Amino acid sequence: MDWKKLTFDYSKANTMVYSHYKNGKWSPLESSNSDSMNINVMSGGLQYANEAFEGMKAYRGVDGKIRIFRPDENASRLKSSTDFLGIACPSEEMFMEACLRAVKENIEFIPPYKTRASMYIRPFVFGSNPQINLVCSDEATFIVVVTPIGNFTGTNFNPTRALLARDHDRAAPLGTGSYKIGANYAAAMLAGVKAKNEGYSAVLYLDSKEHKYIDEFGSSNFFAIRGNAYITPDSPSILPSITNKSLRQIAKDLGMSVENRKIPVEELRTFDEAGACGTALVITPIHEIHDRDLNISYKFGSPTEAGKNSIKLFKQLTGIHFGEIPDQHNWNLVI
Ligand code: PLP
Ligand code: COI
Repeated sequence: MDWKKLTFDYSKANTMVYSHYKNGKWSPLESSNSDSMNINVMSGGLQYANEAFEGMKAYRGVDGKIRIFRPDENASRLKSSTDFLGIACPSEEMFMEACLRAVKENIEFIPPYKTRASMYIRPFVFGSNPQINLVCSDEATFIVVVTPIGNFTGTNFNPTRALLARDHDRAAPLGTGSYKIGANYAAAMLAGVKAKNEGYSAVLYLDSKEHKYIDEFGSSNFFAIRGNAYITPDSPSILPSITNKSLRQIAKDLGMSVENRKIPVEELRTFDEAGACGTALVITPIHEIHDRDLNISYKFGSPTEAGKNSIKLFKQLTGIHFGEIPDQHNWNLVI
């Protein structure tokens, strides 16, 4: 494997781990050397997007140990997504066992420490029995796939531009935005690709009721820095990001104040730094948010270098990922 050439593309590892749910019970976890599976073409997952997923990472640390970052949080978020869909979910214990097994069986696919790359872990559940009626699937399949990955935006820690979306919304106010379900990503996929082709790293969505407040990006949360404050939106229609939750804690640990509240769009003018955060990209600094419809550009700091607080937060979080600094909140599952 040429670790230096890693991108955010899928490449097959040795095995995937899976289980089927039928008659109220999950089958024992099994591993397969293949990443294909026979699926009924009328399964709820394929027909009605009865599917929920998670994303987390395993890192090879400075001490050679493997660390998975906060998998318990992903287990409970998967439960919240599958509960919303009305489909079965593995217990936290089973989720952990499957993820650990997938990581251990594919350990050589975790990039070396010095590459600063990682292994992405993708647990997911989908309704698997054939159906044409609109009912919650009563059978399900749970799979954990792992793949070595590089940087999500391809920009490493370089500042990027984002496009503010006014021509479409990502999530309805009482809709699906706070759940990690495949359907949310299908709805925002083309808009994200078009924005990338125009040189933007992400699309920033507003609250879809009033279009007054900042929600989040298509696949990451939004944060900003003003003075010594870490400011991030509170909204019922955004995904509760585990990275953002961790950054809020790290900001407090670093003596910053944390504001988790509604952020009116106009407040963008007042921020010193802005960024996107999530598992895939960790932190991507944003130096400009372009509101094409209103022809306004909001600028933050330098277009070539991340701001000082974003750097501090990034170093602290990645230091914990790679075992370089004490994990004072016990976030890592060390293998
Ligand atoms: N928001 C959306 C829409 C996402 O897809 C993700 C990625 O998982 C995030 C935020 C960040 O969440 P997390 O930090 O838990 O990966
Ligand atoms: C993640 O950060 O894990 C994401 O959600 C990105 C993914 C949907 C590609």
